[in-house]
Amino acid sequence: MREKLHELEERARRAEEGGGVERLARQHERGKLSARERLDLLMDEGSFTELDRFVEHRCTDFDLQEQRIPGDGVVTGYGRVGGRTVYAFSQDFTVFGGSLSEAHAEKIVKLLELALANGAPVVGLNDSGGARIQEGVASLGGYADIFLRNTLASGVIPQVSAILGPCAGGAVYSPAITDFVFMVEGISHMFVTGPSVVKTVTHEDVSFEDLGGAAVHASKSGVAHFRHRTEAESIEAVRRLLGFLPGNNRELPPVSESDDPVDRRDEDLLDIVPDDPKTPYDMHDVIRRILDDGEFLEVHRDFGPNILVGFGRLGGGPVGVVANQPAVLAGVLDIDASVKAGRFVRFCDAFNVPLVTFEDVPGFMPGVAQEHGGIIRQGAKLLYAYCEATVPKLTVITRKAYGGAYDVMSSKHIRGDLNFAWPTAEIAVMGPKGAVEILYRREIADSEDPESMTAELEAEFREKFANPYLAAARGFLDDVIDPRDTRRRLIEGLRLLASKRDTNPPKKHGNIPL
Ligand code: HXC
Repeated sequence: MREKLHELEERARRAEEGGGVERLARQHERGKLSARERLDLLMDEGSFTELDRFVEHRCTDFDLQEQRIPGDGVVTGYGRVGGRTVYAFSQDFTVFGGSLSEAHAEKIVKLLELALANGAPVVGLNDSGGARIQEGVASLGGYADIFLRNTLASGVIPQVSAILGPCAGGAVYSPAITDFVFMVEGISHMFVTGPSVVKTVTHEDVSFEDLGGAAVHASKSGVAHFRHRTEAESIEAVRRLLGFLPGNNRELPPVSESDDPVDRRDEDLLDIVPDDPKTPYDMHDVIRRILDDGEFLEVHRDFGPNILVGFGRLGGGPVGVVANQPAVLAGVLDIDASVKAGRFVRFCDAFNVPLVTFEDVPGFMPGVAQEHGGIIRQGAKLLYAYCEATVPKLTVITRKAYGGAYDVMSSKHIRGDLNFAWPTAEIAVMGPKGAVEILYRREIADSEDPESMTAELEAEFREKFANPYLAAARGFLDDVIDPRDTRRRLIEGLRLLASKRDTNPPKKHGNIPL
């Protein structure tokens, strides 16, 4: 037995060593952590159990036959994050550049299937040169096997991808299917084709960072939901995110104790919305004053910043917050904002996270670029997502709720459960200026003093229509509330709705306008 144990230890040591000390040193020189160091940061201390550490590739071509490294470039297993089970894989760049062989793919597929069967989240720590070139189609098949499992697991267990190195070619599509993508500045690069191919095909000169770095994907493409300066910050944020999520779609999100009083009234809420309806304000100031302990984990912070989405807690229970941001483009709904919020709403709905919507929206964005970019098709995504969502939906209109955007932003008409407005709310087909110019165009043109006539008519319109009471009179709002009571009313509402049961008609799946 002792001899056999010695052999086991020796094999385990080789597996742990990966591509060897020199390659590991190179990884560190580049400011990158090793696959195992990353798992140590992700999992609660000492909780990680490795699977398949002796798996080897089966490639007999080239000189690979001679080079077999136990584990084959990916560490897979399970452990705990905040005391709850999480499955994870971590690609080891020191082993054939973390490239994906058939065996490497099989390990990831096995992990995804285990996580799916047992209802726990999966975190992928990606650092890979892509398909293992020597394995050809077997490697491509391995990717497809992973894509299929990612898709089958979508909406059943939360899937998180941290990109901690290169992620190129078709390899990008596994993270793209998962729910959240994390990237690190200067370390993560994602693209379908790299700078040299771009140069050949489109004659554009672009660096790795400018083509597929964290900044670009977090702000321009929207591929990344989070970007951080270091791997440690990024992995810590993954842990924080998981703290808001249930293990699977049949569980409720984890409730935690909060000392923040349910009936805490924040006097500042009376002064955040400016008297002048055209003056912007920062919706973060509203959100933080209402959520437990002011804690808001913002998702997609730099993408489509005219809408805010993220997680927080109310009375200890996680909520998904969607909020128009009047400080950016007056909080208008454009293509990026619609797509961003639509996907977030669907995530929350899939995983039983109640939605709290803060609304101050002047409408959909006008313009040729938006129309030609498909604002009709793209805006419909957010509308569709809110319509189909059956989780508790609570809405607070802080100021403007104009036009189609009024309907879209979790209105009563699309199954909003509790819809409140602050006294400053203006609910109308359009803003007073636009309305008056359409309704009284001729009268204004004929008037001796068009400017003061417009101002007068606008004031009249505002008085008559731009308030919450017409909507409240029809029951389209459940109440007009003192802003200081918002926190209490939302928490009471969430408790009331904890037993909510709502379903959609049976169907294979809907046809969301993609
Ligand atoms: C096999 C690979 C590899 C790969 C890297 N290596 N990529 N081995 N298959 N795809 C090996 C290298 O030979 C090297 O081995 C080690 O990993 C480190 O690579 P370096 O090139 O030295 O590292 P670096 O300079 O950091 O460059 C990293 C890199 C580059 C940018 C990722 O290696 C690269 O461009 N690799 C090819 C990327 C690629 O085109 N992959 C296919 C994408 S298409 P030694 O022994 O020297 O340490 C794809 C299709 C997926 O993936 C389709 C899914 C449907």
